[in-house]
Amino acid sequence: MRQADKSDMTPGAAAAALAWLAEMGADEIVGEVAVNRFAEPSAAMPAPPPVAPVLPVAVRNPAGSAAEIASSCQSLAELAAALASFDACPLKKTATNLCFADGNPQAHVMLVGEAPGREEDLEGKPFVGRSGQLLDRMLAAIGLSRRAEEPERAVFITNTIFWRPPGNRDPTEAETLMCLPFVLRAIELQSPRLVVSLGKISAQRLTGSADGILRLRGRWRDLSIGGRNVPLLPTLHPAYLLRQPAQKRLAWRDMLMLRQALDAH
Ligand code: URA
Repeated sequence: MRQADKSDMTPGAAAAALAWLAEMGADEIVGEVAVNRFAEPSAAMPAPPPVAPVLPVAVRNPAGSAAEIASSCQSLAELAAALASFDACPLKKTATNLCFADGNPQAHVMLVGEAPGREEDLEGKPFVGRSGQLLDRMLAAIGLSRRAEEPERAVFITNTIFWRPPGNRDPTEAETLMCLPFVLRAIELQSPRLVVSLGKISAQRLTGSADGILRLRGRWRDLSIGGRNVPLLPTLHPAYLLRQPAQKRLAWRDMLMLRQALDAH
């Protein structure tokens, strides 16, 4: 079969191919020169240009300095400002916006998701895309909302990572560990009654366990923060539920556990 080259493509087909790539998350430029990855290797073909590392290893001890910076912040506003000038996380270089938090800072419940996606990166707010819409519906089903003014009906939402990983790839362990002091300080400063983690990465970071999410979810455990124990409930990530709708019944059980714990307080 002959290789397709750009002259074979109608403008309509090219637009459809681009839309598909954007939907798959391939919407970042990672090199200066386009590489035809479908071309047959041939002696005449020049070697592909070296791909610049998208995520250069951060210098010094960024997790250490993150811990110092985070612990010096005395309010969520200070923490957001500190993150805005924190340059050690390489994800910042490819992200459009810092994506720190949304919701009511007085909320009794704090949610910790994974990482901003495309819409979140553009808006600078967590969970504004399709998984955010599902999350809002899940919360509404148990009487909670990020827009609620009453703390007992409200939630505050943040992520394990504050900048979008290029192409929506999973954040690396190094990236999540670097941001962890900020996440923990956000929990300490927001001081929720209950924390809910969304998805595997958030659950693993907050519990310190390497277990998968299907093992971690649906069980309360203690998160020791700033000298107090905050109950933490890991549950499934809404993006996973969009891919695996049959698992919504497990997430619903977790939402009922959350409702019950709030009612018992
Ligand atoms: N998924 C997340 O984990 N966080 C967001 O902010 C959006 C999607």
